[in-house]
Amino acid sequence: MTTAQARGTELDPGDFPTGFQFGVATAAHQIEGAVDEGGRSPSIWETFAHTPGKTRNGEHADVTVDHYHRFREDVDLMADLGVDTYRFSIAWSRLLAPGMEDLNSEGVAFYRELCQLLLDNGITPTATLYHWDLPQELQDRGGWVNPASIDWFRTYAVLAKEALGDLIKTWATFNEPWCTAFLGYSSGEHAPGIKDAPTSFVAAHHLMIAHHEAVEAMQTTNPHDDDRLGIVLNLIPAWPASDSPEDLRAAQGVDDVHNGLFAGAVLFGEYPDGILEIHERMGVADQIDLDRLAAVRTSIDFLGVNYYNINHIEYVEGAAPMPAWPGAENARVTRPPGELTDMGWGVEPEGITWMLKRIHDWAPGLPLMITENGAAYPDVVAADGAVHDPKRTDYIQRHIAAVHDAIEAGVNVVAYYVWSLLDNYEWAKGYSMRFGIVRVDYETQTRTVKDSGIWYRDWLSRRDS
Ligand code: FCB
Repeated sequence: MTTAQARGTELDPGDFPTGFQFGVATAAHQIEGAVDEGGRSPSIWETFAHTPGKTRNGEHADVTVDHYHRFREDVDLMADLGVDTYRFSIAWSRLLAPGMEDLNSEGVAFYRELCQLLLDNGITPTATLYHWDLPQELQDRGGWVNPASIDWFRTYAVLAKEALGDLIKTWATFNEPWCTAFLGYSSGEHAPGIKDAPTSFVAAHHLMIAHHEAVEAMQTTNPHDDDRLGIVLNLIPAWPASDSPEDLRAAQGVDDVHNGLFAGAVLFGEYPDGILEIHERMGVADQIDLDRLAAVRTSIDFLGVNYYNINHIEYVEGAAPMPAWPGAENARVTRPPGELTDMGWGVEPEGITWMLKRIHDWAPGLPLMITENGAAYPDVVAADGAVHDPKRTDYIQRHIAAVHDAIEAGVNVVAYYVWSLLDNYEWAKGYSMRFGIVRVDYETQTRTVKDSGIWYRDWLSRRDS
């Protein structure tokens, strides 16, 4: 039987299970701008981006695509696209007032109006509490390395649910905690830019405890029958470059740090053996409370998976550990087969099917969402004013089909979100990566739906006929 992925465009949205939701995703820091308006206090990303040498050309998100002022127009765009759901994140330092113990009324008003407008347009809001923008004042108190960060996050989660829980029913605690811990505290590519491998495992541990404790606290705060609480992980396949035992071992090391640590902690309240060995080797085992992790483990209602590519891993004797995967010995990422996206990532939709099936094996029946999937390509505005981006359309079509393959194999996938609604600030890469299905002219803030967006709209509208 040919898989849907191979069949590509033949697939129809009506082929997905009833209730399956198609959406678009963004994150607060990448789109909001207005960093010093509405009572918002600074986040670690302003500090980082305004430090010379940290981001491409010193680019920052002080204005970015000005969503804070243009959110009404952006909701209109989503309504025109006909999406069922919008995944966005809440900026901690906007929702809470300085001191981080009380709500900021202007921040609450902003997110309430956004959510109400979405609901009025029949679009389900899906919120992420933490998409990397820690309030700077909490970084000044030690950030995620301080065990008190668990309490800070629980306080924030409870206040957010109190303020917005009547409008938002689907909540993710963290987006990609691997990035927070290992890009933020080991490779230093992301804010706060710390390069200290042992510390990154301590940060990862606090993130995992904070996730469980926040979910538990949110279950009893402003509860609704249709509340769905979960987390978003970037579970990226780490495939061995060959069948050799060495490559298998190297890939296992990367898989432990990238996937096993987080999936294990979230689903089972424990870490893989390989991670426990790294804790010992790096001398941080005494800061990792395994009993507490097991005790706080809380069931989630869904797991969000961000998927872009596959990491092909080969064994290289004596290779220095990659800073983004500290502790993974003798491992190197090889160039993926085929054409690459602007990010240098391969286009391998089969990895999404593989990972979804793998999670299903770990947690049979758990509702899964693809919370991000998309591609950066160097778009140009054509003479006709349109943005012809056939590669992005092809990427999205093939990945949607690969998700369908997982569903046919029995995996309970309930939603798919394109990253991203808009071109936006791609973290340390600044404005060099365009992921949107809507182009943004960064000078004029004009939004133009790209051909990929038009395709998504037309494809989704087949459900109406
Ligand atoms: C993911 C992030 C998202 C965006 C995409 C391209 O890792 O969650 O904010 O940067 O990559």
